[in-house]
Amino acid sequence: MNIAVFVSGRGSNLQAIINSQIEQSKFEVKAVVSDKISCPAFEIAVKNSIPTFSVGGKEGFIGYSELAEKFDKLKIELIVLAGFLKLIPDSFVNKYPFKIINIHPALLPSFGGHGMYGINVHKAVFESSAKVSGATVHFVDLTYDTGRIIAQRCVDISGVKSPEEIAEKVLNVEHEILPYVIKKFAENKVKIIDNRAVVLD
Ligand code: GRF
Repeated sequence: MNIAVFVSGRGSNLQAIINSQIEQSKFEVKAVVSDKISCPAFEIAVKNSIPTFSVGGKEGFIGYSELAEKFDKLKIELIVLAGFLKLIPDSFVNKYPFKIINIHPALLPSFGGHGMYGINVHKAVFESSAKVSGATVHFVDLTYDTGRIIAQRCVDISGVKSPEEIAEKVLNVEHEILPYVIKKFAENKVKIIDNRAVVLD
C-alpha cells in the first residue's frame, strides 16, 4: 500500500512510520508533504529518498489539485497527517473519503479542536489534573479533530510534574499507535461498521 505523509515540523512520527515500513514491508511512503519549504521532517524524507512536496498558496508551492494529480500517478491509497497544522481544503478531503487519517496527542474528543496542537494540548491536560492521557488516530473530515476515532492508546500521567513530561510520554505512544493503524489499513482491517470505525484483529 502506497502512502503519503503530511508533516510540518520535527518528523518523529514520520521516522517511526519509515522504521515500521522497513520492518513490516506492508506499506511504502511514496511522498512527504508540508506547508513549509523546508523542515526537519523533509530532511528525513530526503535521507530516505522519498519525494517531498510543499503545498499551499505560497510562491513556488504546488496547489492541492496538482498534488492530487501527483497522488493519482503515485497510486496513493492512504494519506497520513503527522503534525500537519493546516486545515486541508474540503475539495481535497472529499476526494479521499475514509482515506485520510490524523494523529492527535490526546484522547479525543477531549482536548481537541482549533488551536489544540503541540504543547498547548499537554498544558490543557496538565492543568485539568487528568490522570491519563494518550494518543488518538482518527479519520480526517472537514473540521479539526472531529473525524471518527480509529484507535487510541492511554498513558498514565498521574505522577507527572509538567506538560513537557506528558508530551514525552504521549509521543512514545504515538510512535507505536500510528504505524500500527497504517499496518491495519494495509491489511484492509480498518472498517466502518454500524457507522463506527473498527479495527479488526
Ligand atoms: C505530534 O505530537 C502529533 O500528535 C501532532 O504533531 C506532533 C508531530 O510531531 N499532530 P512530529 O513532527 O511527528 O515529531
